[in-house]
Parts: sequence; structure tokens; C-alpha cells
Amino acid sequence: MKQQILKITENTRIAENVWKMTLESPELEEQKPGQFVNIRLDGLYLRRPISVYDSEPGRLAIIYKTVGKGTEQMNRMCAGKQLDVLTGLGNGYDLKKAGDRPLLLGGGVGVPPLYLLAKQLTARGKQVTAVLGFNTKAEVFGEEAFRELGCRVTVTTADGSLGTKGFVTDALPDGYSYFYTCGPEPMLKAVYRATKTSGQFSFEERMGCGFGACMGCSCRTVTGYKRICREGPVLEKEEILWAKDR
Ligand SMILES: Cc1cc2nc3c(=O)[nH]c(=O)nc-3n(C[C@H](O)[C@H](O)[C@H](O)COP(=O)(O)OP(=O)(O)OC[C@H]3O[C@@H](n4cnc5c(N)ncnc54)[C@H](O)[C@@H]3O)c2cc1C
Ligand code: FES
Repeated sequence: MKQQILKITENTRIAENVWKMTLESPELEEQKPGQFVNIRLDGLYLRRPISVYDSEPGRLAIIYKTVGKGTEQMNRMCAGKQLDVLTGLGNGYDLKKAGDRPLLLGGGVGVPPLYLLAKQLTARGKQVTAVLGFNTKAEVFGEEAFRELGCRVTVTTADGSLGTKGFVTDALPDGYSYFYTCGPEPMLKAVYRATKTSGQFSFEERMGCGFGACMGCSCRTVTGYKRICREGPVLEKEEILWAKDR
């Protein structure tokens, strides 16, 4: 983990209530897919955790949905403003288990962490299928970006206004070797039940410190308690206990 001052170079609305922000610093290292950053905002005691959407040395991008005080403050920020950010947080996805035909399943703001993953998997010659789920057409983003990487992409919307009507689990393809997923907990539970292979889940649990000190994000797993911010946010399918079992 590093505490860094990053400069905003882009902050653009890309869908209804969804924004993409690019942050830069010469000292910034490349982040791993599935890792997150934690952003200090004026007047808020707790930093706000946001997944890394894209990353290269010196630059990272995030995609965030405006849901409250912190993210509303973020969408008013202009290029040139500096932010205090903790970088390099979380374990990230393990790419070694992907097999030849990995499946990526993202729901809403669970889609962003899958982009850098798709980028690195396609660069390794994997045939990636991405199923991106949203509530409605106005909230859809990322479809083109995944396509440009060479992924096969299916979009689902709960109301049927774009793509397949339903949830990501209504558009599962056959013949995938492994899966990676991120999204709201009801979606993750449905993916857990519907998938036929092993896979990795990224959890967007409520967090306190975000770097392992407060135990606020601790969850019971098959292998004992894990801090989602430190030993997660990515857990393997086989180690997950859902809330009622914890
Ligand atoms: C590891 C991790 C990665 C994340 N990645 C992203 C991302 O890439 N893009 C993105 O838009 N969001 C992401 N989130 C969620 C994001 O952190 C919250 O939406 C944000 O902190 C809300 O801050 P706020 O001040 O705007 O809202 P608040 O005023 O704090 O809350 C507004 C509403 O949002 C709900 N809320 C707040 N935090 C969460 C949360 N973690 N999970 C579910 N509901 C929440 C609250 O219950 C409340 O109803 C991630 C969270 C975690 C833990
Ligand atoms: S949020 Fe503090 S330990 Fe995870």
C-alpha cells in the first residue's frame, strides 16, 4: 500500500450517474486487476474505496457511480485537482487459474474491475467472454471497451431495454474454463449457484480503514476469518460462506 497525491486528468460522465476518472503521478506503479484504491475526500472521515478500472505505470482510471456524499463530491471535480489516494490495496484476481476460455461476469459498478483483468487475459491469448449486466440501457457502459480488447461481449438489462433481458445468469455461455465475477451480493449469490466451474468473486463490502487495521470488513470463510480489504476483495468460490452462514 502507498499513500500518494494523484492529479485528476479526466473526469467524464459515461452513463447515467456513472463517471470515469483518470488519475496520474510519475511515482504511480501499475496496479493489479481486482485491486482497489481508497480516496480521501473533504469533510469525510472515511476514505471511499473504488476498484481499479485500468492501470499502467504513471496512470490509473476508475469508474464510479454517484450514490452519496463522497461520490457526489467526486463528480464535481475538474482536471488538475489533486487527490490523496491509498493505492495498491487488496489481493486482486489470480490470472493463473483462467484456463483457455475464461468467463467474466460483471454487474453495474462490478464491471470496472473486470476490464483490466480482460486486458491482461486477452494479452495472454485467452479467449475471453464478458457478460455485463445492468438495470437499464441508460446505465450501460464498457461494452465497446471490452469488445476492442477482443472479448466476446453480451449485455443484459433487467428491464430488457438493451441486449438480453434479465440478469447475467440468464446469459451464461457454454464451455467456459473458469470464471471471474464482481457485482452486488444478490448477483454474486446467483452466479455462485449457476456456474459450473470454479471461479473468483470480488466483494464490495462496506469498509472502514481499507488496509487491514480496523477489522470492520472481516468475514467468516471456509478457511477462517478474512479481511475483505486485505485478504480480499477477491475470494475463491470454494472458500465463500454467504452472510447467513457466517
Ligand atoms: C473494494 C471495493 C471496490 C469498490 N469499487 C467500486 C467501483 O469500482 N465503482 C463504484 O462506483 N463503487 C465501488 N465501490 C463502492 C463505493 O465504495 C461506494 O459506492 C462509495 O464508498 C459510496 O460513497 P458515498 O460517500 O458516495 O456514499 P455514502 O453516502 O457512503 O452511501 C450512499 C449509499 O451507498 C451505500 N453504499 C456505500 N458504500 C457501499 C458499498 N461498499 N457497497 C454497497 N453499498 C454501499 C450506502 O449504504 C448508502 O445507501 C467499491 C467498494 C469496495 C469496498
Ligand atoms: S476495512 Fe479495516 S480491516 Fe478492512
